[in-house]
Amino acid sequence: MRDYGFGRRDESLESIITAEMKEMVDIRINGPKNSAEQEIVNGELVYMPHFFDVPFLNGILYVLAQCTLPRSEYHRLWTISKGGIKFQRNSDDMGRALSLTPWLKDLFPKWSGFKGLREGNQVFIDFYRDLVQEIMLTQDDAHDRHFLDMYIRKMKQEMQENGRSTFSVDQLLLVCTDYTFPTATAVQMTLTMLVERILYQPGLQERIHEEIDRVVGRDRLPTIDDRNNMPFLEGCLREMMRIEPIVPLGLPHRALKNVQIGGYDVPENTMICINYIHLHMDKDIWGDPENFRPDRYIVDGKLCVAKDKSLPFGAGKRLCAGETYARNSMFLVFATFMQAFRVSTVDGKPLKKLAPRIQGIITTLPEFWIRVTPRNEIAN
Ligand code: HEM
Repeated sequence: MRDYGFGRRDESLESIITAEMKEMVDIRINGPKNSAEQEIVNGELVYMPHFFDVPFLNGILYVLAQCTLPRSEYHRLWTISKGGIKFQRNSDDMGRALSLTPWLKDLFPKWSGFKGLREGNQVFIDFYRDLVQEIMLTQDDAHDRHFLDMYIRKMKQEMQENGRSTFSVDQLLLVCTDYTFPTATAVQMTLTMLVERILYQPGLQERIHEEIDRVVGRDRLPTIDDRNNMPFLEGCLREMMRIEPIVPLGLPHRALKNVQIGGYDVPENTMICINYIHLHMDKDIWGDPENFRPDRYIVDGKLCVAKDKSLPFGAGKRLCAGETYARNSMFLVFATFMQAFRVSTVDGKPLKKLAPRIQGIITTLPEFWIRVTPRNEIAN
């Protein structure tokens, strides 16, 4: 996947993400063209988190299959994201009771979350089954066009040489699904929480706009090169993931042998979860962890990464595979969004409190509408 821009800087991937976000900006400014778009943009109002889906999902499609869905098919991306959120909300990061007592799925399919998990997952499998079938028709061993081609070639080669392979079409569908799930949910939820925070905490929006106008201006779109020069916006993203890590207990791991952790004996096969909230809210590290304060990462006007002790993407061998993709694409999408718009609540009043969170595999907040006003109109 690295060959196709994943996990590193890649100009073609960056330009896809920016172009897709620009398309979303256009839908808001010039109005929706079909009923699916009307579910996301209604006059001055846009629907969170789905307004952000397209650039992230078309970005990962580009990595996996060097393709993107055109605007006339964006509705398929919104369906994927809705399926992803359904999946995330029907379990939690420990797998709920189903992981210990899987038979609950037969007795109480709905209550146990199994039905929701299955339905949410199926959206991804169906989407990728069609795509993989189409790609297999034209795959050519002599020329890899993208990650899916490489996988299919390896699978065929192992089957020919050994008569068996751990590579299979079903595995491939799950690999694609695994990489698309967080791209359909985690990144846009993080940005949605940040939008909510902007509506809640006075002063943030003005500082973000001031920085964008000073560094990028209004005549070009933000690029990843601007990231270094925009410590406040970058600090907002980091602070959002610190104050509310959307995977608060990470993914569960298993001790492969007896180990000692922090003076405790942990026997082989024990399930281990890391409490990121504890780290992110530690007064000894942060001083005032309860405050949303992007300036904590800024020293002499520059971003100081060493000040960021948070680990929203985990650490070690199994840290998030999508960290670079997530950080770069969230920056691009959010900077492009904030360059174009001023955000406010639907009724224009300040937000009095943050929405209650829904704890699933990741933390989500209920979908909501916000008002977005084009900034050029404000300037005029
Ligand atoms: C705001 C966005 C995201 C956050 C906060 C996040 C966070 C995390 C965390 C905490 C883990 C568990 C790490 C551990 O067990 O130590 C993880 C694993 C993982 N993430 Fe993400 N993630 C995000 C976005 C993404 C994206 C966009 C992708 C893919 C495109 C992705 C792919 C993965 C994969 C494949 C794993 C499993 C890695 C493994 O077990 O080897 N994540 N993520």
